[in-house]
Amino acid sequence: MRASPDVQGRVDLSARDEHVRELMDDPACDPQRLRATLRRFETVNRLIAGWGTVYRTHVRPNLRTLGRPARVLDLGCGGGDLVVRLAARASRDGLEAEWIGVDPDDRAIAVARTRERLPETTFRQADAAQLVAAGERFDVVLSNHVLHHLGDDLHDFAAQSAALTRGIALHSDIARSRLAYGLYAVGIMPFAPGTFLRTDGLRSIRRSFTRGELQASLDRAAPGAWTVERPVPFRLLAVGVGRG
Ligand SMILES: C[S@@+](CC[C@H](N)C(=O)[O-])C[C@H]1O[C@@H](n2cnc3c(N)ncnc32)[C@H](O)[C@@H]1O
Repeated sequence: MRASPDVQGRVDLSARDEHVRELMDDPACDPQRLRATLRRFETVNRLIAGWGTVYRTHVRPNLRTLGRPARVLDLGCGGGDLVVRLAARASRDGLEAEWIGVDPDDRAIAVARTRERLPETTFRQADAAQLVAAGERFDVVLSNHVLHHLGDDLHDFAAQSAALTRGIALHSDIARSRLAYGLYAVGIMPFAPGTFLRTDGLRSIRRSFTRGELQASLDRAAPGAWTVERPVPFRLLAVGVGRG
């Protein structure tokens, strides 16, 4: 039997592979493995996602200028670890805010609701379009590892996120590169057993953008509305000004 390209590591990363499907996106995937994957995202996000830097450079300065309690939304929160961590960090910094994580997948929300968290952190099943339709408004809208999941709906998602905030929108994701692929393939090994983390992480890298690709794609739909930064190695951060 031939090994899959994910296992062999011989994959073509010269262009984004929007067609490769992640195991966790299968509604019929193993629920136990899915729950373990959603819980262990916490470790992966802590190690590689760079939100400590993004919090210091973008989230905290924005919350500080408000002079009132803020509303912060994590769109596509998955297992909820990021919004729980940012809420705790902001609380230690003396910043008052309501923190809301939403995800259209009820399996993710069920995991998120099991997390120990501050009372001002809540989770709801919803997607971006539903929140826009409900007239919701936030001061910061953020997402982590959502952009690479999207296809033709990327531009709608970006526009909806900007419509949901009167402050800033921050979308963090992987920067596709051969080095990121090689390092992840090896580095994830200790954390992968019992989860989809290795297969889906490698597929995520194949689905991810380079900085130039993401900037060009966002510019096509909304010229000048987004700036794609590189906050830490192997990461992209699309920063947009709210229109809400
Ligand atoms: C790889 S998971 C990332 C989860 C989490 N943000 C993290 O970093 O661990 C991507 C998530 O995006 C969610 N998602 C996809 N499309 C969405 C949309 N239009 N609005 C909100 N969430 C969406 C999916 O349900 C999924 O849970």
